[in-house]
Amino acid sequence: EAGALWGGRFTGGPSPELARLSKSTHFDWQLAGYDIAGSRAHARALNQAGYLDDAELAGMLDALEELQNRVDAGSFLPSASDEDVHSALERGLIEIAGGELGGKLRAGRSRNDQIATLIRMLLRDHSAELARLIVDLIDALAAQAEANPHSIMPGRTHLQHAQPVLLAHHLLAHCWPLLRDLERLDDWRRRADASPYGSGALAGNTLGLDAALIARELGFSAVAPNSIDATAARDVVAEFAFVTAQLGIDLSRLAEEVILWNTREFGFVTLSDSYSTGSSIMPQKKNPDIAELARGKSGRLIGNLTGLLTTLKGLPLAYNRDLQEDKEPVFDSIETLEVLLPAFTGMIATLRFDTERMRALAPEGYSLATDVAEWLVKRHVPFRDAHEITGNLVSYAEARGIGLEQIDDAGLASVSAHLTPEVREVLTIEGSVASRDGIAGTAPERVAEQRALLAERVRQV
Ligand code: ARG
Repeated sequence: EAGALWGGRFTGGPSPELARLSKSTHFDWQLAGYDIAGSRAHARALNQAGYLDDAELAGMLDALEELQNRVDAGSFLPSASDEDVHSALERGLIEIAGGELGGKLRAGRSRNDQIATLIRMLLRDHSAELARLIVDLIDALAAQAEANPHSIMPGRTHLQHAQPVLLAHHLLAHCWPLLRDLERLDDWRRRADASPYGSGALAGNTLGLDAALIARELGFSAVAPNSIDATAARDVVAEFAFVTAQLGIDLSRLAEEVILWNTREFGFVTLSDSYSTGSSIMPQKKNPDIAELARGKSGRLIGNLTGLLTTLKGLPLAYNRDLQEDKEPVFDSIETLEVLLPAFTGMIATLRFDTERMRALAPEGYSLATDVAEWLVKRHVPFRDAHEITGNLVSYAEARGIGLEQIDDAGLASVSAHLTPEVREVLTIEGSVASRDGIAGTAPERVAEQRALLAERVRQV
């Protein structure tokens, strides 16, 4: 069987049904460049250990370079009979270098230690790309915060008006989870920074290959210390998939707010035409499709993580073919986010906020009641009583269909003797926001500090 990596003990090639089931080139071909890089490092280790002389090493490296060129040009592709990226590339190498030389490369390695290494290399590269895209989104949110430093909006809990907050504070609140995702990727990179190459099929190799040399050449700072674990573990892939799922959820929560803010009822934002869609039947429609796709795709990212964890559950050590199922979910998560994030960031960067409307709605729903209660506390009324008095004040206003600030002196006094006219000092949304000047609070100077701290933390990752 042309291209098969085994055959000695078999009487015939695989059945067509098996070949079809077994094939992975349609998704693992994207590992080709990493496989060839691994082969280069492996050839050097074979040379150092005395299994390739210097001329053979030079011939091997030339052939691998030519193979890489053909892969890049698309003139070498997996054929129908290639099982996976590794078997396809061995066939390609032998086409270039001949069977005599090309057949020597496989000594001392297995597809098991190869694939475990290559997936780490691919994820490492994409972790850097995702980190760049996350930073772009954080920057877009922070720029919107900076452009609206004093705008006030209704802050909500349970989606009900709760207390007024700065729009900038709310926007920055979406930046911190994204920063944590960035830090998670960074932390993941540390755990992924160990090379399985040299572990062989499961037990290590007999040829005295210098695994540290291979690790260094492939950009790892260490060799994975246990050959069984190195070939069997995929927690490194699952953890990556978790970070992508968490990132998807963080995008989805922001997306949900954009969708709400964009409704006629909220009317807080206008989406740029370039980052919204129309309807095929309703000419007036302008839809927040990017936000909806973000919300939808978070389900897919969670599904990829769940599928992967389910595959890993109960697998005995060491390598099992089930592990081939690690790739499609995590590749899909990467592709999903690398397409989604630029569009999402564009949508955020081009949002226009109706700050007048947000400001006008901020005091509604008696959102300054907590300020009245805390004003009473500052006058040494026990909070329990202050809460009660303020509750009565809210029903007084509600019964008359007016705001707290519209209650006259007599009305205030009728609710409680503690409610002197000075209470009106805290009945403005500006006063309310400015008074929340404790650490992490929504007062403008605190939020400005927060923005600086965020920028500093992003720089540190
Ligand atoms: N295509 C396989 C995978 O993705 C490579 C390792 C195959 N190893 C084996 N012994 N069949 O996991």
